[in-house]
Amino acid sequence: MSPTTSRDMFERELRKLYHAELEILDLHADLADAAASDEVKALFADHEADTVEQIHRIERIFEELNTEPQAEGSPVMEGILAEKDEIVSTDAPPVLRDLDVLTTGMLNERFEVTVLDRLLLLATDLEISEEIATGLGTNRQEAKAALTKMEAIVERRRLE
Ligand SMILES: [Fe+2]
Repeated sequence: MSPTTSRDMFERELRKLYHAELEILDLHADLADAAASDEVKALFADHEADTVEQIHRIERIFEELNTEPQAEGSPVMEGILAEKDEIVSTDAPPVLRDLDVLTTGMLNERFEVTVLDRLLLLATDLEISEEIATGLGTNRQEAKAALTKMEAIVERRRLE
């Protein structure tokens, strides 16, 4: 059934975000494997601790809402994962491999930021604790920081 209240929608988005973060652990490992350069490999390998912490923050939010943590796939995330599967099985030259890897990572971070924007907006409608809002804000900042790093590499390589 489609969501009818801000609270329903908030929970739906939280389940979506939880699913995305759980998938990101494998997604980043696959992208690190598929990357050609050490720089891009390191970028995806180093993000793991952040993701684990983001997952914990989401679990704490479920707890505060008195609901069990539940993951729910979304067509966008499934699409990003399908693209990732496609690029990791392609035999492209190193520069193109890195570009594929970086931009797939960017799609993913942008998705994360967008779901977090929706959650933060919905949070203003709900009587949600400061702790929940702070947790969401921190996750958003980290996703944004990861996105900025990826964009900087793409931009630098474009100018090389
Ligand atoms: Fe994340």
